[in-house]
Amino acid sequence: MTGSLTPDEHYQAVIERYNKFINPYLARLMSFAGFGVEERAEGCYVFDHEGRKYLDCLGGYGVFSLGHRHPVVVEAVKRQLDEMALTAKAFFSDNASLLAEKLASITPEPLQYSFFCNSGTEAVEAALKFAKASTGRKKIVSTERSYHGKTIGALSTTGREKYRKPFEPLMEGVTFVPFGNPQAAAKEIDANTACMIIEPIQGEGGIQIPPDGYLVEIRRACDQVGALLIIDEVQTGLGRTGKLFAMEHDGVHPDLLTLAKSLGGGIMPIGCVMGTAAIWEKVFEINPMAHTSTFGGSPLACAAALAAIQVLEQEHLVQRSQSLGSELLKGLKAVQAKHSDLIAEVRGRGLMVGLEFAQDEVGELVVVQLMKRGVCVAYALNNPRVLRFEPPLIISSEEIEFAVSAVEQSVSETAELLAALI
Ligand SMILES: Cc1ncc(COP(=O)(O)O)c(C=O)c1O
Repeated sequence: MTGSLTPDEHYQAVIERYNKFINPYLARLMSFAGFGVEERAEGCYVFDHEGRKYLDCLGGYGVFSLGHRHPVVVEAVKRQLDEMALTAKAFFSDNASLLAEKLASITPEPLQYSFFCNSGTEAVEAALKFAKASTGRKKIVSTERSYHGKTIGALSTTGREKYRKPFEPLMEGVTFVPFGNPQAAAKEIDANTACMIIEPIQGEGGIQIPPDGYLVEIRRACDQVGALLIIDEVQTGLGRTGKLFAMEHDGVHPDLLTLAKSLGGGIMPIGCVMGTAAIWEKVFEINPMAHTSTFGGSPLACAAALAAIQVLEQEHLVQRSQSLGSELLKGLKAVQAKHSDLIAEVRGRGLMVGLEFAQDEVGELVVVQLMKRGVCVAYALNNPRVLRFEPPLIISSEEIEFAVSAVEQSVSETAELLAALI
């Protein structure tokens, strides 16, 4: 809302309120990165307070798979808003039942039931609770550099000291093993283990892709001792990696699956944990209210998710993710070939691509350069050397070309800046 202010006055007023009422330290970081004030968004683009247009290659860390304000999802949510928004709690919800049925039909066979919440971290909290309650065990195995959220339980399984340390003591019983090493995981998964929790591709860890067959071996290690496998597809789920679920790359199914981010179609927040009938029986048979959420599974959020899955299917976005992801990977690899002194590696699956710099701090400089050129990206929280590209799956080849060319120019300018500093 600019009112009678000039765009710059408006920008300064927003920053001032961030400084006074939200988080001055975050405001400083965001200002340094050249972030403006977001005013509106449509498709693959976000528009700032000056009316500048940015190609959204960050995609809300995987939220905007359908782009911003996809008309089918907007329409479904508007229609639902005219009927009922949140659940009255004393009735069955048609939308929740339809969404749970749809999710069961698109996920591997043993996953039958859904518990709905409002975010990724809540989905992880629920999955951890369900694993503990249904096995009667306490030990949890997670991976180094993983990211599962920042509420106490999820944070306890998040593999980065920087985020964990200030909030200790966290939930006890969690051990960490290196990601991508099945032997190390198998050694830790024992008869006391309730579950192993794992991302099929680490997003915040810097788009880390494990060796083929990794999840198969983790599944086997869990099965040998009766431990459960939680696969966290909050970021990778619903087409991001060129398959509907990233676990399909290894052909593995979990006992518990967490989803959030793109599930709400870029319009509504929604999280979900899916699980087997055996787990639901152990958790809910004696106490059907063993785990609940006031807002979880609202008619509005479920309407958005149902529409989002419909769009994903009708617009063949999983296939698009695969083919356009290859174009992005190829383009960024060509940039790497020109700047092999600065760029260590480019890797990815589908439209989840990471570009790793050889040194720290270069990523931050390149983010600033890219924002200047109208492309929005970010570096990975647990690995700032890695720039993450997670654009909407509706992105076009021309837009990918534009993004790649902006990366090329941004890296060149950063290289010149660094050379001038030496
Ligand atoms: C794999 C994974 N799990 C859980 C979360 C936490 O989700 P949220 O930020 O919605 O709580 C994230 C967020 O980035 C994530 O990438």
